Amino acid sequence: MSQKYDDWIKNNFKKQYEVFKPKIASYIKPDDSVLEIGTGTGDFAFYIAPICKSVTGTDISHDMIESAKQKNVEIRYKNLKFQVEDAYDLSFDKSMFTKIVSCNVLQTMKTH
Ligand SMILES: C[S@@+](CC[C@H](N)C(=O)[O-])C[C@H]1O[C@@H](n2cnc3c(N)ncnc32)[C@H](O)[C@@H]1O
Repeated sequence: MSQKYDDWIKNNFKKQYEVFKPKIASYIKPDDSVLEIGTGTGDFAFYIAPICKSVTGTDISHDMIESAKQKNVEIRYKNLKFQVEDAYDLSFDKSMFTKIVSCNVLQTMKTH
């Protein structure tokens, strides 16, 4: 499923991602500890890992997080980790982070 997701984004939304990724990244500073909500397979987390202190990519989907972790087995960013989390019920204190980012997620979240 996550591979299909990556192909779907690449084939249908490449141009949009090329615009909003640098735009959001322009707010990230080298000393930022970033929490990403709804990281999917980690595309944006991998994009910003080289320009900040740390990134924690979270997603409610185990499949997406497994895929993101697999990618980092090859890429090996030491300042990047992934974990399954529901944005409505995070298991950690948000004050651990200096920035919280989320791309293309809100419309997929269940309302409570
Ligand atoms: C359209 S995808 C976008 C993924 C990634 N941000 C990207 O741009 O490629 C939306 C993601 O939000 C996640 N998501 C939906 N509801 C969530 C929730 N309550 N908590 C965390 N992640 C959630 C989905 O599992 C999915 O991976």
